[in-house]
Amino acid sequence: MCSFKAMHKILVAFSLFAALSSGVFGDCTWPNGTDTTFHWWQDASSVFTTYSVYTTDTSGNPEYPIHLSLPLIAVLNATVTGSTISQIREDIALAEWDATNCKWNTLPTFGLLNNLDGCTNGLACPIPTGNQIIKMTVDFSKFQAIINLLKNDAPYQLQFTLTNKQTGDKIVLTSQARAEIK
Ligand SMILES: *[C@@H]1O[C@H](CO)[C@@H](O)[C@H](O)[C@H]1NC(C)=O
Ligand SMILES: *[C@@H]1O[C@H](CO)[C@@H](O)[C@H](O)[C@H]1NC(C)=O
Repeated sequence: MCSFKAMHKILVAFSLFAALSSGVFGDCTWPNGTDTTFHWWQDASSVFTTYSVYTTDTSGNPEYPIHLSLPLIAVLNATVTGSTISQIREDIALAEWDATNCKWNTLPTFGLLNNLDGCTNGLACPIPTGNQIIKMTVDFSKFQAIINLLKNDAPYQLQFTLTNKQTGDKIVLTSQARAEIK
């Protein structure tokens, strides 16, 4: 017969297991609520402040989850507090979520996403001083080697580093999203 004491032990062990697998270490499935929402942040900068970001398809329809095998547009409400930005170097770092170890793993991008000319890769230049809506096109469809690395319906992190070539100022924007690959 199962004693009360044994039963209690089982219950304690079970709640400990539940706490360890969810509460204590957080839910490792979709980081930062990416199952339902686009997550982003911008590193502090004295020349640029982003207030909001959302994603759309090329027709301007809000899109979430995002589709990484098609061009997508990040719509930023941002303020350039420094001088007009007319030459931009763009570097994109891509990482996939490792749900087993609860961390991001950087993916190799074969140099395809580094040292790009931002003005011919998705941004309309020049970007004047002041508050404005900036549309940034992200198009991996031309990089099949990168699309081939991606799993359908998984969390991805894309970190954009935009460097004003004339001043050297860097704008670092990190986004995390649930992505589908068609
Ligand atoms: C979640 O987002 C915050 C910023 O909002 C970031 O500091 C943190 O590293 C992110 N967590 C993961 C697991 O990516
Ligand atoms: C950006 O967002 C702020 C706060 O919601 C708003 O006042 C401003 O008009 C927006 N800027 C543009 C260019 O839409």
